Amino acid sequence: MTAAARPEQAANSAGLELSDAEFASLSQMIHRETGIVMAPSKRALLQSRLYKRLRSHGLDSFGAYCALLESGDGQFERREMISAITTNVTRFLREPHQFRELREEVLPPLLEHAQNGGRLRIWSAGCSTGEEPYSLAFTLLDLLPEATRHDIRILATDLDPNVIRKAEAGRYPTESLAPFSPEARQDHFRPTGDGFSEVRDKARRLVTFRVLNLLDDWPFRGDFDVIFCRNVVIYFDDATQRRLWTRFAGVQTRPGARLFIGHSERLSDEARPYYRLNRGASYVRTDRDVPQQDTQPARAGADRSA
Ligand SMILES: C[S@@+](CC[C@H](N)C(=O)[O-])C[C@H]1O[C@@H](n2cnc3c(N)ncnc32)[C@H](O)[C@@H]1O
Repeated sequence: MTAAARPEQAANSAGLELSDAEFASLSQMIHRETGIVMAPSKRALLQSRLYKRLRSHGLDSFGAYCALLESGDGQFERREMISAITTNVTRFLREPHQFRELREEVLPPLLEHAQNGGRLRIWSAGCSTGEEPYSLAFTLLDLLPEATRHDIRILATDLDPNVIRKAEAGRYPTESLAPFSPEARQDHFRPTGDGFSEVRDKARRLVTFRVLNLLDDWPFRGDFDVIFCRNVVIYFDDATQRRLWTRFAGVQTRPGARLFIGHSERLSDEARPYYRLNRGASYVRTDRDVPQQDTQPARAGADRSA
């Protein structure tokens, strides 16, 4: 393998290593912008992921790269830097038991309500390249093939514009469709003949993709019947996680609404009055109102009273 193909090695051999001060400055910037905590053990990972960004600007030191990020022209590069450091791992029907719960318990009454003229809203928060919200759309369509004729929408958001672009393209390697039955594959995908398959229009029409940083203002009003926010907050500090759970409760005002989180995540004690554990990583909204001030955006690490 060439040095260029192994960025971490190449960085070291060229003497391009993150100094303590540069690592501290980058991890503070990442935390401020995203809520993501960069533990000291992540230093080599950060260095290797950002090495490509340095090269793309023809820079020869992390010092110069940090100066670019902090400069007046650094806004574009700050977004690219965040895109480079976020973990976007996802897959179709990830944690299948949650989709089973959705299909068997959660959706039937909600779909009946929608068929009687009601509205149904689902939010996939931190949707990465789209496998999660499309899996939600397919689950809806399997239960109600004419779902697009009713007031049913899935909002799918992520901080990273690059993953949102891929999600909107709705084009996936055919081998990644393995979790689906042959019938479901046929119903929801169109093979493009080059080892890829495209999501069919029906599912696309149910999903709206938007770039959204969960730490920022949410430019929509609730109410979400179902929120999926899985494997996102696990990278955040505790305070940011706590605020987020409570903010979710603020956009899920209907008792009985559902919140699904990642299997290695847990709701903080502060959010417990608003959600009761159903099973595993699925929660049910209680009837407790969220005080208005607890629904406001708060930057990572910022004092709530600031
Ligand atoms: C590991 S993926 C999870 C994808 C999907 N939810 C799943 O479980 O398969 C985490 C996603 O969270 C996004 N993310 C990280 N910090 C975020 C923030 N502050 N606001 C919105 N999205 C964020 C990342 O860009 C990434 O795409």
